[in-house]
Amino acid sequence: MCFPIFHAWLTLLFFRLCAVTLRSRPPLVYCVSRTARTASLLSAAPQLTQRYETSLEKNMSTKVAVVTGSNKGIGLSIVRALCKQYQGDVYLTARDTGRGQEAVESLSSEGLKAMFHQLDINDLNSITTAAAFFKDKYGGVDVLINNAGIAFKGGDDDIMSTLPPSLCLSLSSGADTTAFAVQAEVTLKTNFFATRDMLTHFLPIIKAGGRVVNVSSFVGARTLNQCSPDHQQRFRSEDITEEELVGMMQQFVDEAKKGEHKKGGWPDTAYGMSKTGVTTLSMIHARQLSKERPNDGILLNACCPGWVRTDMAGPKAPKSPDEGAITPVYLALLPPGATEPHGKFVSDKEVQPW
Ligand SMILES: NC(=O)c1ccc[n+]([C@@H]2O[C@H](COP(=O)([O-])OP(=O)(O)OC[C@H]3O[C@@H](n4cnc5c(N)ncnc54)[C@H](OP(=O)(O)O)[C@@H]3O)[C@@H](O)[C@H]2O)c1
Repeated sequence: MCFPIFHAWLTLLFFRLCAVTLRSRPPLVYCVSRTARTASLLSAAPQLTQRYETSLEKNMSTKVAVVTGSNKGIGLSIVRALCKQYQGDVYLTARDTGRGQEAVESLSSEGLKAMFHQLDINDLNSITTAAAFFKDKYGGVDVLINNAGIAFKGGDDDIMSTLPPSLCLSLSSGADTTAFAVQAEVTLKTNFFATRDMLTHFLPIIKAGGRVVNVSSFVGARTLNQCSPDHQQRFRSEDITEEELVGMMQQFVDEAKKGEHKKGGWPDTAYGMSKTGVTTLSMIHARQLSKERPNDGILLNACCPGWVRTDMAGPKAPKSPDEGAITPVYLALLPPGATEPHGKFVSDKEVQPW
């Protein structure tokens, strides 16, 4: 190979390596014939850099919304609504890639374009991988909806305890008989501790003007009123810290495992306690954002979707999943410049007492 061509080839290799290092989609212009003239190759090099930078800037300025646990139920309906209303990329995420991709295809058959990323909120590695992906590709996240959650079917008094006893009984057939100690540990692990892990890793990459929505439940608000007066006072206080809240949630689990949770001032509902924790955590994080990023205009709220017909709540619930998505999507799309709600518990688009 004569020296000028070899030199040009080396120059191109250098630019290509830069692109790979920065993990951008390599522009097509990198496919250059080795027989091209040295001079034209060298003069093309700055253009390559420019095209690469332009494509990177385009990604960074594209807005992005991420919804956890969105392969079915309310999460899928949230993604559906965002695909119709949000000016940006919308990510359906799921712990199981197959179920997630099937859901993306079902939306595609409705003419809607959702993107997919695997995300199991119980797996710290999955959370950090996803956070790194969004930081790298978009410079952060504009909208985060923490929707993923679990409930033992009628195992403790969760969702059904809000219903008239007759309806409750009819729904309770086939209720889960898993020991309360196990229900407490497993439910809190996903609904509270894993949601907190999501927030730990995603809050630092929420962009200015961002919106964060934690899907909690009216059951959590009612459960708060069933805690001991001391616990209630701490959950409602303005100075409760994240560490103190985590300690309280762990104390509930530990005492449930010893069969002593009632003596400790906790009610008999694992799902309810997990959602009391999610709402309180939302209030703590909102106060932190106001203090630490006062000029970024980020709004963070907890909400209840209502009682919704999903695998979790069963077929007799009054709201369809699309109706259940209305309040979370309303909070996710609060207009630029809005200053409230922030740090609230919202149901049917209205701030609720806590
Ligand atoms: N339905 C109601 O009446 C109601 C009322 C109040 C609040 N909520 C809340 O609304 C949210 C959605 O509930 P839903 O009724 O739509 O329930 P659902 O139909 O059971 O859907 C729950 C979703 O969460 C996902 N998920 C569970 N664990 C996960 C994990 N570790 N990582 C990632 N995703 C996970 C599930 O994925 P898989 O398919 O892989 O299991 C599924 O996509 C929950 O937070 C729930 O507590 C529901």
